[in-house]
Amino acid sequence: MTDHRKIPVPPQPDAESGGQSDAASDRAEATGRESLFERAAGRFDFNSIIAKPLPVAPEAPARRFPVKPPEAQRPASAPAPAPEPGPAAAAAPAPVAAPAEPVEPVAAAEPPAVFHGEAHPVDREHLREQGLIVPEGTVTELLEEFRIVKRQLLVQAADLRRQKAGAMAQRILVSSPHPGEGKTYCALNLALSIAAEKESEVLLVDADFAKPSILSALGLPGGPGLMDALMDEELDVADCVLRTDIPGLWVLPAGDTTSHDSEYLSSSRTGRVLDRLTQGAPQRIVIFDSPPALAASPAAELAKYVGQTMVIVRADKTGRGSLDDAISLLGACPNVQLLLNAAQFSPSGRRFGSYYGYRG
Ligand SMILES: Nc1ncnc2c1ncn2[C@@H]1O[C@H](COP(=O)(O)OP(=O)(O)OP(=O)(O)O)[C@@H](O)[C@H]1O
Ligand SMILES: [Mg+2]
Repeated sequence: MTDHRKIPVPPQPDAESGGQSDAASDRAEATGRESLFERAAGRFDFNSIIAKPLPVAPEAPARRFPVKPPEAQRPASAPAPAPEPGPAAAAAPAPVAAPAEPVEPVAAAEPPAVFHGEAHPVDREHLREQGLIVPEGTVTELLEEFRIVKRQLLVQAADLRRQKAGAMAQRILVSSPHPGEGKTYCALNLALSIAAEKESEVLLVDADFAKPSILSALGLPGGPGLMDALMDEELDVADCVLRTDIPGLWVLPAGDTTSHDSEYLSSSRTGRVLDRLTQGAPQRIVIFDSPPALAASPAAELAKYVGQTMVIVRADKTGRGSLDDAISLLGACPNVQLLLNAAQFSPSGRRFGSYYGYRG
């Protein structure tokens, strides 16, 4: 992601800083003098950090859900799909359309998770102020960038579904090593981008229990959320989900925080609660905005339940040592990918500021 503010032309890389040790990199990170990722572009092998064998399909049999016809998935007022990426995106890998997945209807043991309630208005002006995607806004560079990121994630989700990963295929965790690296910013933009898809919908889950910020970012009212549903066996998590006036976008608040968040999250109830979120809704993508992986345990816990993790790497901020540690903590997830956030425009003309890592 490019940094969507006024940006000075970045300084030229210092030739003498090549071959800098990890310790030196971390010192630079601490002093804020160097941009590890921008300086290292071209000689830093992201793939080697996250290389791991192809995920093995879980033993559990694939869950099959009834699929709604496309018209039934979206209110008639849904906006027309935005045009395909323009020149800004052309420099990046070509987006591939997620193949349509035939889903056989079978009798479900439990009723589908239908989210009820009034459509809460999302504060468009506040979205604009925060530099986020505005659903009815013009096609911006930010929109284009997230289209490309989204497409990669949806293709991977379709692959996972084919590999019979079940509900995990529909879940994406957004994390990063430290605070302030752009997890919430990227999770929000990704959710807003997926909501515009014709054949997908998105549930954005605030899993930063200690410092929730999704509701305030969208201008939504508070209410019970994920942690409440984990604590209270009687509470159906589907009843905590907020509908928004953005077609295809739902939000699950973090809920009440406790001093035992981690224990609740690691309990056996978590799997059942998360399964409920996609019950009967194979077209739904669930995005978790998490706290920093190196500062709190929820990200590592949630990594066990998701098919993909997007680790945000903030240019000028995230250090190699921290990134290694975070990826290792998130190791339960079979697909960890990197997103370079807040990269500055390159004077070489390469506009696309994100680097996307893949398994080797
Ligand atoms: N690419 C970007 N362009 C412009 N602003 C950005 C970008 N990425 C992040 N920001 C801004 O940086 C600040 C920190 O981002 P954000 O809150 O998303 O970080 P975070 O990783 O979720 O932090 P925390 O761990 O504390 O929750 C926010 O004000 C956000 O709007
Ligand atoms: Mg955050």
